[in-house]
Amino acid sequence: MRNSIIAGTGSYVPDNIVSNDDLSKIMDTNDEWISSRTGIKNRCISIEENTSDLAYEAGLKAIKNARMIAEDIDLIIVSTITPDMQMPSVSCMVQKKLGAVNASAFDVSAACSGFIYAVDIADSMIRCGRHNNVLVIGAEVLSKSVNWSDRSTAVLFGDGAGAAVLKADDNKKGILYALTAAEGDKGQYLEMEEKPVISPFSNNKGTNINKFITMDGKQVLRFSTRVIVDAVKEVLEKTDESIDDIAYIIPHQANYRIIDYAAHKLNVDCSKFYLNIRDYGNTSSASIAIALDEAFRKNKVKKGDKVILVGFGGGLTYGAILVEI
Ligand code: ACO
Repeated sequence: MRNSIIAGTGSYVPDNIVSNDDLSKIMDTNDEWISSRTGIKNRCISIEENTSDLAYEAGLKAIKNARMIAEDIDLIIVSTITPDMQMPSVSCMVQKKLGAVNASAFDVSAACSGFIYAVDIADSMIRCGRHNNVLVIGAEVLSKSVNWSDRSTAVLFGDGAGAAVLKADDNKKGILYALTAAEGDKGQYLEMEEKPVISPFSNNKGTNINKFITMDGKQVLRFSTRVIVDAVKEVLEKTDESIDDIAYIIPHQANYRIIDYAAHKLNVDCSKFYLNIRDYGNTSSASIAIALDEAFRKNKVKKGDKVILVGFGGGLTYGAILVEI
């Protein structure tokens, strides 16, 4: 039986660290409000680098850690909602920068669940025999889409990229189960960069276009707390695993309160969740991938460990994956 394993990971964040105190100098906010409601203390904000630059750096590290070279990669999937431009895709830009001449490449858009969607696609491609070595990247420069005069969203987000190389393997380990889901009827609760039809033939004058991230925080909180619990429970049920056998749950890093709630509902200690939101804020597509790479680098996860990755966000979408390291 052909499976896919995580052969290597990598991550990269801009070196410009912006603290809550730094933000309080440019908007009416404070460290107490931000940290008590979200768990965020710092985030990395790009000065010059765009999404493809971060994606490239993370991808390069993942390839190196997988003991491969760029030419070994036969597919690149980038999850992003903040591409450098609409066309070409970030994945094609990364292919060019890496010199991954044997890879096909495309982007996926599933916001904060995007890395889960992309890993699921990569795993399916490997299982069906179409590809052997897939580079999956979650990368965002959200700072270019944040409304810096809206304190209710501006304090939440950060920039960064994380990557994993998935490789074909014949052992019964690696990606063991994946689920993805969408509730498009709730899409209006989290929106960004509206693109209405404007042409000489339309009546639209292009006024009042929403360029930035807008969020109904309470609705998103309601959705996120529900689906993170449901998704983890489904993974455990479908795979006959007990939560005690899971070394770590690596969630999308949106908000500490969501994790606190999920831990309570799943009857586990918060320490079961790998968290780094304190240092990076919410990096959307990149957050799970950065956390996974960090967990490897800090030896928090080791060979044989079972880990659940779980994402939720814009769309609204969610998804979860059980992986044996
Ligand atoms: N600093 C200081 N005060 C603020 C700030 C800020 N940055 N932002 C809002 N406030 C004020 C508001 O103006 C409001 O003041 P008022 O009562 O005088 O009107 C007060 O704080 C409360 O505002 P709420 O929006 O009701 O704050 P809430 O307690 O709901 O917390 C939060 C907001 C943290 C975003 C919450 O809704 C939440 O946790 N949502 C979950 C969704 C989430 O985390 N989204 C992240 C992105 S989406 C994703 O990744 C899935």
